[in-house]
Amino acid sequence: MPTKTNDQALRERAERVIPNGMYGHMAVRPRLPEAYPQFFERAEGCRLWDVDGNEYIDFICAYGPMIAGYGNPRIRAAADAQRERLDMANGPPAALVEFAEKFTRQVSHAEWAVFAKNGNDATTVCNMIARGRAGKRKILVGETAYHGSQPWANRMSRGTPEEEHVHYPTYRFNDIDHVTAVAEAASGDLAGIVVSTFRHDVPHEQELVDPAFARKVREICDAEDAALILDDVRGGLRLSLDASWSEFGVRPDLSAWGKAIANGEPLAAVLGTDAYRDAAQHVFFTGSFWYQGAPFAAAIETLDVLAETDGPRHMERVGQQLRDGLYEQAQRHGHGIRQSGPPQMPMIKFEDDPKTEKGNAFCAAAMRHGVYLHPWHNMFLSVAHTEDDIAQALEGTDKAFAELS
Ligand SMILES: Cc1ncc(COP(=O)(O)O)c(C=O)c1O
Repeated sequence: MPTKTNDQALRERAERVIPNGMYGHMAVRPRLPEAYPQFFERAEGCRLWDVDGNEYIDFICAYGPMIAGYGNPRIRAAADAQRERLDMANGPPAALVEFAEKFTRQVSHAEWAVFAKNGNDATTVCNMIARGRAGKRKILVGETAYHGSQPWANRMSRGTPEEEHVHYPTYRFNDIDHVTAVAEAASGDLAGIVVSTFRHDVPHEQELVDPAFARKVREICDAEDAALILDDVRGGLRLSLDASWSEFGVRPDLSAWGKAIANGEPLAAVLGTDAYRDAAQHVFFTGSFWYQGAPFAAAIETLDVLAETDGPRHMERVGQQLRDGLYEQAQRHGHGIRQSGPPQMPMIKFEDDPKTEKGNAFCAAAMRHGVYLHPWHNMFLSVAHTEDDIAQALEGTDKAFAELS
C-alpha cells in the first residue's frame, strides 16, 4: 500500500470537520486536477512549498494578495513592529491616518479613504455610500462580474433569493448600447454603476476595457448624478499605482480596493471624491477587525515597495516574458493556446478545449514540474518574480507541453 501524502491525510481530516474539506475559491476539489495540493507549509518570495515539501514557482499569488513577495522582509517587519506596539485596541493607531494620507495622495480621484477587511466589504460600502448620497436605489453591475460572495454580488450559488438582486440590473461589459439601455430603464432611480477594472470573471476569457465604454459609463453617471464605482479589488496596483482607469482619463467617484494593498495582511479600502464625503460620513458601516493596526503598517510599506520597483511595469515585463515563452512553446509542441488579459494578470486557454481537459492536463503537468498555474482563473504576477524565475518556470512548462498528447 502506498503511504498517504501529508496533503491526503489533511484532506481526510478536513472532510470530517469542514464541508467538502475546503470551501470558496481555495477549494481544490472538485474544480482543479488532483495534482493540485490543498495545503501549504511555507511561502517565500514567489515560491510556495506544499505540506509534502514540493516547491512551486507560484503564479496565483494567494489569488492576488501577494504582490511584493511572500514574507517580504520589509513589509513583514513593518507589520510586526506595529503588531508589537498595538494591533487591536479601542481605536486604531496613527498608521490608519498615515496610510489614508499616503493612498489618497497616490490615487488621483481620491480625497478621502475608509477601510475594511475584504474586497466585498469595500464594494458593498461603495454601494451604500452611492445610495446614501443619491437617495436612489439601482446599482448596475456587469453580467457575471465578480464583486464578492455576499448576496447582492452573488448570482452563482444557492442560498440567495432572487429578490436580493431586484435593485441590481445587469449590463454587458464593453457594450455601450447595452449599458445605455439598462441605465435608461433605471433612470431617476440610478444610484451607481459598478465596473470591473477589466472583464476578469471566470471562466470567461479576459477582456480589457474599451476606453470608449469607460468614457460612456462616466457620461451616464454624470447625466444621472450617479456614482461611477470602480472595483479595483483584483486589478488594483497591478496595472497602475493610480486607479486603473486613470490611464485613459476616466475618474471614478468611488473605488474599491483589497487583495494586494497590504501584501496579504487583511485590508480593504474605499476611496472617494469630496462629493461623496458627506454620504460616507452619514452611512453607517463597520466591522470588529476593520481598525487593526498591522495591516496599515504593511500597506504603507507595500505602496513604497511598489513605487520603488516601478511595480506595475515590472509585473508587466515579467508577465510578458511568461506569455511570450508560453506562446513559443505551445507552437513548437503543436498546441493552440490563447492568452488573455493584461500580462500582469494572465490567463491561458487551449483552443478546442471547451471542458478545459487540455488545460487541466497541462496545468497538472506543470505542477509536477514545479510551476503553479491555473487552468481557468486569471493568474497574478508580483514584483518578487524575476526574469530568472520566469526562465525557470518556462523550463517546467516546456516539459509540461511535451507531456501533453
Ligand atoms: C473584482 C473583485 N471584487 C471583489 C472581490 C471580493 O473580494 P474579497 O474576496 O476580498 O471579499 C473580488 C475577489 O476576488 C474581486 O476579484
